[in-house]
Amino acid sequence: MSHQSQLISGDILAYLKTQEQKSMLRFITCGSVDDGKSTLIGRLLWDSKLVFEDQLASLEADSKKVGTQGDDIDYALLLDGLQAEREQGITIDVAYRYFSTDKRKFIVADTPGHEQYTRNMVTGASTADVAVVLVDARKGVLTQTRRHSFLVSLVGIRNVVLAVNKMDMVDYSASKFHAIREEYEAFASELGISNIVSIPLSALKGDNVIDLSEKTDWYSGPTLMEHLETVEVDRGQTDKPFRMPVQWVNRPNLDFRGFSGTIASGSLSVGDKIAVPSSGQTSVVDRIVTMDGDLEQAHDGQAVTVTLKDEIDISRGDLLADPLARPDHADQFEAKVVWMHDEPLLPGRSYLLKIGPSSVPAQVSDLKYKINVNTLEHEPGKTLELNEIGVCNVSLSKALSFDPYVENHATGSFILVDRFTNATVAAGMIDFALRRATNVHWQAVEVNKQAREEQNGQKARVLWFTGLSGSGKSTVANLVEKKLLSMGKRTYLLDGDNVRHGLNKDLGFTDTDRVENIRRVAEVSSLFADAGMIVLVSFISPFRSERRMARELMAEGEFLEVYVNTPLEVCEQRDPKGLYKKARAGELPNFTGIGSEYQPPENPEIELDGAGESPEALAERVVQTLVELERAGG
Ligand code: ADX
Repeated sequence: MSHQSQLISGDILAYLKTQEQKSMLRFITCGSVDDGKSTLIGRLLWDSKLVFEDQLASLEADSKKVGTQGDDIDYALLLDGLQAEREQGITIDVAYRYFSTDKRKFIVADTPGHEQYTRNMVTGASTADVAVVLVDARKGVLTQTRRHSFLVSLVGIRNVVLAVNKMDMVDYSASKFHAIREEYEAFASELGISNIVSIPLSALKGDNVIDLSEKTDWYSGPTLMEHLETVEVDRGQTDKPFRMPVQWVNRPNLDFRGFSGTIASGSLSVGDKIAVPSSGQTSVVDRIVTMDGDLEQAHDGQAVTVTLKDEIDISRGDLLADPLARPDHADQFEAKVVWMHDEPLLPGRSYLLKIGPSSVPAQVSDLKYKINVNTLEHEPGKTLELNEIGVCNVSLSKALSFDPYVENHATGSFILVDRFTNATVAAGMIDFALRRATNVHWQAVEVNKQAREEQNGQKARVLWFTGLSGSGKSTVANLVEKKLLSMGKRTYLLDGDNVRHGLNKDLGFTDTDRVENIRRVAEVSSLFADAGMIVLVSFISPFRSERRMARELMAEGEFLEVYVNTPLEVCEQRDPKGLYKKARAGELPNFTGIGSEYQPPENPEIELDGAGESPEALAERVVQTLVELERAGG
């Protein structure tokens, strides 16, 4: 077929060699089907002669069958997208396509352009060097063009091609092209996109895609392919300060202690000084070891094992860094978060945050505002739904080292993972560390928890009663407290209905508010436990995540989950406050068990059959469990 296939059949080694030496460009195309995106990609593949004969035959047959282009070949059909795409004319997921020319290899991320596919576009764009933003010459810059460009700027792509397509439909008008270009450049500069190359083209007719078109003799720039083949991609990681997250500490014997990982940015030479921001310690590089022997120098992208001249504390997840340009080390930062899951973001919920090899529990402590992807306006919000983007404060359970995303993509981006399902729920880009976190220190106190426990003659405990409304939690908790008091114990009861009159009176019953309700109560319980008390908590606390978060706040063995398991029918029959009746009448839309989910505990320390035994008997069981624990010294 082409020059390439001749080389493949003639001299396979020479072919492989040229392939190896070619640079790779990753790009993303942004636009919708109507803009001709699929046609453009099809044309690039077609004209770079990468379509094979059998595909060609089926393409001609398909084009005739679908009949969108008369007897011409419909290049959009080249893309072996999902069946649905062909049938409905929309593209559904991120598809990566590979092709190459004599000069370069390419990976193009083809993502759908509709707003409901924001997460796909962000995913596709996150690894791209160049974005090709398509506009229809007849329509010019549209809302979706702005949205695509915003997402491109969000993930930090520096090179943008404005592909003004369908020039054939506007008679190759220079003035139309220039008007669109100017409007776009003005808008893009507000987003901080500065490297823009605008190209008038027709994907359908092939004008300025591969070869310069005679129809646009007023245009003197490159064709799209020329530009893609020659644009300098500054992945920018080599000139950046040295960063290497430690994947594992390699200690095969007492004489060797190496830190293994992939260099995220910059370079490292034997004799260089490095710093470990978590401890502030520094040392000097002794050796750089690889599978193929020692190196004098290594740079970003290389997997190495580094040994140091001094014995300093370094563990998995630590970031080795240039001591003269250190990363931030903090437990709070502001970030832009793209929500990628059907279940909305619940501020206050504990998610796993992963940056490189580190993962720590983290919460979105404050959703400051949402960004409307179409207008770029800031909007208030309590949650992020699928495909929404927000600016948030994130607080980590432990300080990590990181950089702002604009300075370093590798050490400045993270994902959030649901701790129960392991699904990736969000992608984030760090804006900056929050200094308030760095400047608040733990105050050393001289009277500690142990001293208070001794004075109280007891071990601190948190008895966490969970169950449906009307299950009997509060009744049993109340009886337990009376019994403990008569045994001389020091107790405090936190009851949902009561706390909601004071500390939590600003909260309602949406999922977001319930998460915050439990977060506050868990923190309060932890303070009471620190005071050496036996705390009884009686809240519906319907979500596993928040009960786990509460558990994790307490010391080992301190937290006892007491599941008051009473069937919904029984609670509804009891209906002590008439709330079930209201809920059934549609007057309480979020009522637990009816309009809002209750997730039963999987391994509670104590499970009580709330319909089977009397509250008195149930309370006695709880007290007995406590007494036995105390006896066993647990
Ligand atoms: S939780 O879900 O956030 O843990 P919490 O225990 O604080 O709930 O409060 C539950 C109490 O609020 C119930 O016992 C009931 O009296 C009252 N309540 C009012 N509206 C609702 C509702 N929509 N869902 C559940 N409880 C409600």
